[in-house]
Amino acid sequence: MSVIPGAWQRAARGAGLLSADGVPAPTIFAEMSALAARTGAINLGQGFPDEDGPAEVLEAARAAIAHGGNQYPPGRGTADLLTAVAEHQERFYGLRLDPEREVLITAGATEALAAALLALLGDPDDEVVVFEPFYDAYAALVALAGARLVTVPLRRPDFQPDIDELRRAVGDRTRVILVNDPHNPTGTVLSAEVRSEIVRLAHHHDALIVTDEVYEHLVFDGAHVPIATLPGAAERTLTISSGGKTFATTGWKIGWLSAPAPLVDAVLAVKQWLTYVNGAPFQPAIAVGLRLPDDVFTGIAARLREKRDVLGAGLTAAGFEVSVPRGSYFTVADAAPLLRTGEDAADFCRALPGRTGVVAIPLTAFVTPAQRADYATLVRFAACKRLDVIAEASNRLAGLGA
Ligand SMILES: Cc1ncc(COP(=O)(O)O)c(C=O)c1O
Repeated sequence: MSVIPGAWQRAARGAGLLSADGVPAPTIFAEMSALAARTGAINLGQGFPDEDGPAEVLEAARAAIAHGGNQYPPGRGTADLLTAVAEHQERFYGLRLDPEREVLITAGATEALAAALLALLGDPDDEVVVFEPFYDAYAALVALAGARLVTVPLRRPDFQPDIDELRRAVGDRTRVILVNDPHNPTGTVLSAEVRSEIVRLAHHHDALIVTDEVYEHLVFDGAHVPIATLPGAAERTLTISSGGKTFATTGWKIGWLSAPAPLVDAVLAVKQWLTYVNGAPFQPAIAVGLRLPDDVFTGIAARLREKRDVLGAGLTAAGFEVSVPRGSYFTVADAAPLLRTGEDAADFCRALPGRTGVVAIPLTAFVTPAQRADYATLVRFAACKRLDVIAEASNRLAGLGA
């Protein structure tokens, strides 16, 4: 039987996301996690925590299951979680939202991104400006929506975009500026200047801003600043987050989006045909999480900061040049001093489990093919693991230079 390529297959082949015969190439994440499982290496590749988050959140999910919260929730999300998201946006950022019209619960941030891009993009000439490297779903979702990806590079040492390059990338075809702050994979937090320029450009070119802030509570110096809080931004910004990273519940896939009501309605029109709804017993549990006291949130960030510091020290001692992240689960390190002749970071990462028993991801997994050369020596390590695991990984990596 031959498979007739659907719209996404055609778009994905064009974007280099599928092989010529339409088979999805195994992602580097799947390859590296399989390698970790096969070799027993410590997996600092994929970004998921290896210990539980707040006990109250876990207990609330158990209670919801025990008390019958197991059927379809309402299409926009449970009233309690919608309210908790609105309260959270006001408590932390001073943003006032109508929970019934300006908030939508989604199957993780990923579904919010997918539904938003499918809702907002329609014309093959529509462009989405995104900072590169980027969370790998972005290119796939822009291809799925049939639009064009335009990238602005983030370069070492601080991974801030060059303002002139950003200005050149945004034009009258730009429908969406897709932001991720704090940023995966670089751990950068956008500067105030970059944030304001994004809003200015969005106004000037009548574009929308879709901002993925899943690491909003994992910022190491100072407080997170959502783009929607900038003057003139809220009216054209769709803010996306999820409970997975903050509460160490990545498998629950409870996300949300907030925006002006007509934009939320447009996203809901797509979302209702994707998953319709998800995670009934997890929605009240994430609502409990969002209402936890401030010190729980600062504690979560402080613990991750400590892990970042231990990982950074271990990587530096092993001979990497480390870019100190200001947020997120991740640390990027330059492996150039450790590469063997002819090796790039992808070869290095494939060999690393055998050499030292540690798994990491080459940064080229997060860039378009044309940009690979610029990131060829960089490696992403996940710091969201137990401290003893990070310490053991550091011990193992210390043998690299030998
Ligand atoms: C930047 C970014 N956005 C979204 C996601 C996915 O979020 P969720 O699991 O809530 O769909 C991730 C997960 O790694 C991420 O790094």
